[in-house]
Amino acid sequence: MNLLVRRPSPLGGAVIPVVWGQRLRAGLLVAAVLAPFSAAWAADPIEGKRLYEMRCLGCHGDDHRAGTIGPSLTGIFGRKAASGEGGVHSRVLIESGIRWDDASLRKFLAAPMKELPGTNMPVAVPNPQQLDDLLAYLHVLQ
Ligand code: HEC
Repeated sequence: MNLLVRRPSPLGGAVIPVVWGQRLRAGLLVAAVLAPFSAAWAADPIEGKRLYEMRCLGCHGDDHRAGTIGPSLTGIFGRKAASGEGGVHSRVLIESGIRWDDASLRKFLAAPMKELPGTNMPVAVPNPQQLDDLLAYLHVLQ
């Protein structure tokens, strides 16, 4: 899945569209090259990667290794809830009928236990900036 990221240009307000490839490395390279030019970029996948490694990786694994406690989040966009590889799925998640996109992930991750009482997913990300960064990272974790 490709994500179109639009960001203000340092050279007079034009918008530079950046199309993320499917490869994580390519995506992060583009981000690394462009990051110094904009201090106010809405979503930062590099910060998202750091957050993911600190707060999600232990349960969910990475793009090489599915999680043991949490299902793999690689390729999560467009996927039905609880259809990922690995992890322990609860009945509420299986029966939720959710198909993951930016909006549903944002809602769920902000308060999983409140959004889906009975879920086994224990980590909330209530901070909107951190959510943006995490979702930007999940978009390149395809
Ligand atoms: C302590 C382990 C643990 C941590 C840490 C954790 N999760 Fe989870 N996560 C789970 C479990 C278990 C499930 C399955 C929940 C269920 O079936 O109700 C889950 C489910 C999910 C789902 C739904 C997946 C699907 O296939 O439907 C998403 C999205 C998710 N977690 C994102 C995250 C993010 C982002 C983080 C880090 C901010 C995170 N999780 C941290 C254990 C964890």
